[in-house]
Amino acid sequence: MAIESSKKKKKLKRSSFVQNTSSSMANSTTVCSFYERNRRLTLITVSLIVSVLVILYISSNTINKMKFEEVISSQISSIEVVNEFPHDPNAFTQGLLYGGNDTFFESTGLLGHSSVRKVVLHTGKVEVLQKMDDSYFGEGLTLLGERLFQVTWLKKIGFIYDRYNLSKFEEFTHEMQDGWGLATDGEVLFGSDGSSTLYKLSPQTFKVIEKATVKYKDLEVHNLNELEYINGEVWANVWSSDCIARISPKDGIVLGWILLPTLRNQLLRAGNVDIDVLNGIAWDSEKNRLFVTGKLWPKLYEIKLHPVRETIHGSIEQHCLRRRAFGFAEP
Ligand SMILES: *[C@@H]1O[C@H](CO)[C@@H](O)[C@H](O)[C@H]1NC(C)=O
Ligand SMILES: *[C@@H]1O[C@H](CO)[C@@H](O)[C@H](O)[C@H]1NC(C)=O
Repeated sequence: MAIESSKKKKKLKRSSFVQNTSSSMANSTTVCSFYERNRRLTLITVSLIVSVLVILYISSNTINKMKFEEVISSQISSIEVVNEFPHDPNAFTQGLLYGGNDTFFESTGLLGHSSVRKVVLHTGKVEVLQKMDDSYFGEGLTLLGERLFQVTWLKKIGFIYDRYNLSKFEEFTHEMQDGWGLATDGEVLFGSDGSSTLYKLSPQTFKVIEKATVKYKDLEVHNLNELEYINGEVWANVWSSDCIARISPKDGIVLGWILLPTLRNQLLRAGNVDIDVLNGIAWDSEKNRLFVTGKLWPKLYEIKLHPVRETIHGSIEQHCLRRRAFGFAEP
C-alpha cells in the first residue's frame, strides 16, 4: 500500500509534473503563438499603414499636380461671344457699367465729344445724354448709390451725376496722378491713372485710402485703364493690349488674364478700320452677364470665359505687359 501509495504519489507527482510541464508547454505554445500572431498582426498593420501612406502620397501628389494644373490653366481665359449688340461707333468708350434693366452707363472721351450717357443694351440707343464741357476728356465711370462718379484725362478733376437724369451735381478733386478708370465695391472707389497703381479712394473726400502696385509674377502691369469690380476682384483693361487683368484688390496681385484679341481682329476683318482699342468692361451681377466693348467699336459683346489649356505664360508678358501698338495676332 505504502509502495503503491508512494507509486501513486510518484505517479501523481509525475503526472502532476507532466501536467505541469504540459501545461507550461501549453502556456509556452500559447505565448509563442501569441507572439507569432502579434508579430503577424504587426507586420500586416505595418504593411497596411505603409501601403496606405504610399497610396496617400501618390494620390496627394496627383491631386496637387491636378490642382496646380487647374490653377495654372484657369489663370488664363479665352472668350466665347454669347451675344452681340449694337454700340455707338462714335462713342470713344472710357467708362462702362451695367445700370440694371438692360441698360448701361457709359462715359466717352475725346475733347469736344466727351459725354456721360445712359444706353439701351439691345438697341445701343442713347436714352439720356449729358455732354461735357469741351475742355474735358471723359474717362472712368462708376455708380455708387444713386450717383455716378467720373474722372477726366490729364486733370485731377472729377464729376458726380444723378443716375436718373445725369444732371451734374458736383465737381471733385482726387489724389491720383491722372484720371483713367473707376470702379466700386459699394464702399470705396477703385481708381487707375494709367500707371501700375491700383488706388482705393474715399468716395467722400477722394483721398487715397490705400494703393497697391499691380504685379503679374514679378512684373509690374502698367497702363491700367477701365476698371470693373467683379466678385471681389478688380478687372482692368490694360491699355493698348487685348488683355484684361483680374486683380486682387488686397495686394494688387494679378490673379488671372482674359485674352480678347478675337474681338478686335473680327471687327477689323469686317472692315471697321477706324476702331480703337478694347476698353469697357461691364458686369450684370443679377444675371451674371459680362459685357465688353471698345473705343469707337460698332459692337458691344456679351462674353463667357473659358480656361486656356495650353501654357502660354511666356506670351502673357509679351501680349499683355508690353506697351505695344495694337494687340497681337489671334491665337
Ligand atoms: C425697364 O425698361 C423698360 C424699357 O425701357 C421700361 O419700360 C421699364 O419701366 C423699366 N423698368 C424699370 C424697373 O426701370
Ligand atoms: C435730376 O434728379 C434729381 C433727383 O434725383 C433732381 O434733384 C434734379 O433737379 C434733377 N435735375 C434735372 C435737370 O431734372
